Amino acid sequence: MISPKFLGRLGFALLLAFQPTLAARYPSFGTIQTTNSSGVLNAVINNTASSTNLLDYRVQADLANLVETLQANDTDIRVVVFSKSPLPFFDPGFPDMSFPPALLWNISQIPQATIATVEGRARGIGNEFLMSCDMRFLTTSPSVLFSQLENSFGAIPGCGGAMYLSNLIGRGCTLEYVLSSTDIDAVTAEKYGWINRAFDTSAAMKEYVHILARRIALFPLAGINGTKFGVNAVSRPSKEDIVQKAQNVISVLALPATQAYVARFFEATKIRALGSWS
Ligand SMILES: *[C@@H]1O[C@H](CO)[C@@H](O)[C@H](O)[C@H]1NC(C)=O
Ligand SMILES: *[C@@H]1O[C@H](CO)[C@@H](O)[C@H](O)[C@H]1NC(C)=O
Ligand SMILES: *[C@@H]1O[C@H](CO)[C@@H](O)[C@H](O)[C@H]1NC(C)=O
Ligand SMILES: *[C@@H]1O[C@H](CO)[C@@H](O)[C@H](O)[C@H]1NC(C)=O
Ligand SMILES: *[C@@H]1O[C@H](CO)[C@@H](O)[C@H](O)[C@H]1NC(C)=O
Repeated sequence: MISPKFLGRLGFALLLAFQPTLAARYPSFGTIQTTNSSGVLNAVINNTASSTNLLDYRVQADLANLVETLQANDTDIRVVVFSKSPLPFFDPGFPDMSFPPALLWNISQIPQATIATVEGRARGIGNEFLMSCDMRFLTTSPSVLFSQLENSFGAIPGCGGAMYLSNLIGRGCTLEYVLSSTDIDAVTAEKYGWINRAFDTSAAMKEYVHILARRIALFPLAGINGTKFGVNAVSRPSKEDIVQKAQNVISVLALPATQAYVARFFEATKIRALGSWS
């Protein structure tokens, strides 16, 4: 008779065998499930350690490992589609001030086209992640809301969020939403250009993104990468600006008043410190 203990071990071994082979510079937490076919890699972010699917250090480590694989000129993959589990997506997070901007910068310049689909919330670094992707598609469900909310606790978007946003929606709308830390819904976001398009149903969104990704993946990577390179040059904040901004973020965070707000923010949102693997 096969003991339950053996079956448990077998399950674990099978799980390991089906883990995608990602470069593992950082520890792997299994928060991103990937599948790929016809040049399209589907990456589902499913952080079951967090009740809000937070983009915490676990997701960041898994993303950094995935990005490292994609940086290595993997010519099989031409499009990356990021999507979410049905849990609220990326609720307010508080980014560590050095790793996240570097990770999102790397995501913005991998050779592959990146498409994000969202059916929940994306605030703070969650929204910055969306903007570091090349395209954003949402559903009009009332649970879809996103924002740069850092001003509400006296801080500043840490990964260039306000700078990315001003390229997408202009100075006036950026200041309206970032200074007030207000949520935007999918329909308004589509009107402003924050996102590419909002769909009434999840099925319609997935079908559209599937067709779009498959079409882009028909074409050679060199053209995709070259086009991104040019678009990045004129529409993305410079690395120097993001680094400079990170310095501002650190000095603002050091203010006692900001620290008091941040403590209240963590308490109110029940987000524990994001931790670190070092
Ligand atoms: C894509 O799938 C192939 C075959 O299943 C696998 O060998 C490869 O590692 C995958 N690529 C990525 C980037 O996950
Ligand atoms: C990817 O290709 C570029 C140019 O062909 C090269 O400079 C770079 O080192 C390559 N990256 C890796 C990780 O192989
Ligand atoms: C997320 O992971 C949990 C636990 O493995 C699983 O039950 C759930 O179906 C996953 N959700 C998605 C959308 O993959
Ligand atoms: C970003 O990519 C560079 C290589 O271009 C690498 O040295 C760096 O560690 C990466 N950063 C993160 C946070 O993944
Ligand atoms: C992407 O384009 C940049 C700029 O032309 C180039 O340096 C890099 O090697 C290209 N990478 C790939 C994989 O084509």
